[in-house]
Amino acid sequence: MKKIIDKLFCTRDADDVELKELIESSGYDNYLYEQAESIRKKYYGTDVYIRGLIEISNYCKNNCYYCGIRASNINADRYRLSKDDILSCCKSGYQLGFRTFVMQGGEDNYFTDEIICDIVSSIKSMYPDCAVTLSLGEKSYESYLAYYNAGADRYLLRHETANDDHYRKLHPENLHPENRKKCLFDLNRIGYQTGSGFMVGSPFQTTENLIEDIRFLQELQPAMIGIGPFISHKDTPFKQYTNGSLELCLKMLSILRLIFPTVLLPATTALGTISDNGRELGIKAGANVVMPNLSPVKYRKLYEIYDNKICTGEEAAECKFCLQKRMSSIGYNIVVSRGDFIKTTTTNFN
Ligand code: 5AD
Ligand code: FES
Repeated sequence: MKKIIDKLFCTRDADDVELKELIESSGYDNYLYEQAESIRKKYYGTDVYIRGLIEISNYCKNNCYYCGIRASNINADRYRLSKDDILSCCKSGYQLGFRTFVMQGGEDNYFTDEIICDIVSSIKSMYPDCAVTLSLGEKSYESYLAYYNAGADRYLLRHETANDDHYRKLHPENLHPENRKKCLFDLNRIGYQTGSGFMVGSPFQTTENLIEDIRFLQELQPAMIGIGPFISHKDTPFKQYTNGSLELCLKMLSILRLIFPTVLLPATTALGTISDNGRELGIKAGANVVMPNLSPVKYRKLYEIYDNKICTGEEAAECKFCLQKRMSSIGYNIVVSRGDFIKTTTTNFN
């Protein structure tokens, strides 16, 4: 197993058989984390980037089987933030040292392209030293282009699973894996720093699917990869499925760090939800980003895409300080920076 990890470390790749062995292995996790951490430190030192997450709407027209804000969930109390709400989140975030704002929401038709562009350009003109990230789901090429021209720098859209059959098991039939992938290539083509990713341990996922996820990401070459454990939500068709495991999630983070040395890799809130020190372990396994919540506390609980989501009662400042403490306890520190993707051109980095 050490040989496979060393091969990944030196060549940034391994074949499918080797990846399968590694993903299904046990007992070599610490060696894997150490190798991933050393690459992470080579490019990013002990810096951890923060992104201020603003959950702008929990209305969603889609019905993904795993997600708590799916349209058919009648128990979800719906809200959307106004432009003023969003700008005031940015204001307090800026004072706390955030230099990236992520506007995330369900696919909510209220937020027309015109409204989105207006908010994006306002944020960019008030905070020209900040990056704006959007995470608003599948849109047309023209819409993505309009947001980009309004000043959006980055876009997050997880591919969820690269395997088409698996995709159809996680989504109703009006959602198409080909369209999801097209959106991601459109975003790249426009010039966004594109973020993709997948859930670890989602229902019906196999090791082969995880390998396909890696292969898809190698083709896409995203600037960011967001992964986190699947966590069941009580009001979804997947309420009876088991949560993804911490160990597999950490292992995937390390493998991704080895294959994508400079990629922006968050230790996600979902990871912090399945284990109290999940985010610290994620950083130690190679992650270099955390995404504290800047949404107004009164709406936090309502953006519940999975059960028991953490940080729903804390103010932005509390989360920032909490994370600062958590990061310094493991020898890392949160930095005031946009935290842009480092593009590399060589293929062998050592
Ligand atoms: N468990 C874990 N992650 C989830 N997401 C949505 N629902 C869940 C869940 N039940 C993830 C999806 C989505 C991102 C915003 O949150 O991967 O892309
Ligand atoms: Fe939110 Fe710790 S990060 S309370």
